[in-house]
Amino acid sequence: MNDISTRILAALSTGDQWVSSARMVGTLGVSRMTVCKQVHRLQQLGYGIEAAPRLGYRLTGRTARAVPEEVEPLLRTRVIGRPYQYFAEIDSTNAFLRGRMDALPEGATVVADSQRGGRGRLQREWFSPPGVNVYLSVLLKPAVSPMLAPPLSLVAAAAVLRAVHSLGGAEARVKWPNDILWQGKKLAGILCEMRAEADRVQAVILGIGVNANLTAFPETLTRTATSLHEALGRPVSVPALTAAILHHLDEEYASWSRDGLPGSVSFLNRHSMLAGREVSIALLHDEVRGRAECITEDGMLRLILADGSTRDITSGEVQLCRPATTRKRTPRHE
Ligand code: BTN
Repeated sequence: MNDISTRILAALSTGDQWVSSARMVGTLGVSRMTVCKQVHRLQQLGYGIEAAPRLGYRLTGRTARAVPEEVEPLLRTRVIGRPYQYFAEIDSTNAFLRGRMDALPEGATVVADSQRGGRGRLQREWFSPPGVNVYLSVLLKPAVSPMLAPPLSLVAAAAVLRAVHSLGGAEARVKWPNDILWQGKKLAGILCEMRAEADRVQAVILGIGVNANLTAFPETLTRTATSLHEALGRPVSVPALTAAILHHLDEEYASWSRDGLPGSVSFLNRHSMLAGREVSIALLHDEVRGRAECITEDGMLRLILADGSTRDITSGEVQLCRPATTRKRTPRHE
């Protein structure tokens, strides 16, 4: 966090008053030029700050973006979000961390207001316009074997779902493994990437995208995607949502490191949209159909197949099967 800009905001936040440039210089112990530059930077971050020659400065509005000045004061995390880096625009927050895995510590978090090349699973594009959503990636360095790392995407799903619930979206559900949906439409997605040696994970990147205040969707997404704003009928605070995700990820990750997956899984099972539904899952070479029972303690999706046997699925794209409908006869008019 930029210390001077935080202190400028604190000085301006005492009420709807003008604060003279001389007073700012005196309280902060910096030059007039520095104050001027930092005020300009804050304005660019979206803060409403008026400047008038004889009056000085006045704060007229805070920014709606997840800048460190807004998010860091809300963070009570031990690992996640430390350090916290923000960009107005970036290629992709996942790609940013991919290039800096060795240099950055566990917990390092990068947040962007928009992405030029946001990616989802299967290399799909992730729509990432500015000023409306959450796009963030977190770097983890768990000391485990590569087999144990993929379920971290479930840990992230539990954290995102808890954050969405905490902001009023209690009806949001998880679609295994890690899509967050609202009445069948996608609210948030998670992209989990890993770098590992044969017997040891080097780093995991959890990329999280949440449609927060998006209301104008491109045509290709209108049928399948929604946002918290659409779901709740009111806008949500992007800094508060960002801080809530990081807070819950800090707790879920600590629980996973200590006790493994059961904590996250039992929460996800209570809020799963698949339980009891007929699904089909595309595997590498075939497709499996069955009734989804639950997420197992090791993160697999348990299916009951047509012959009554069970099968645990490790990964795959889940499709809901439509319930068989009895065709209505159209009455003949003779
Ligand atoms: C999916 O559901 O397909 C996963 C979507 C993940 C999108 C996020 S946005 C932040 C991070 N950066 C990316 O390029 N992707 C992830």
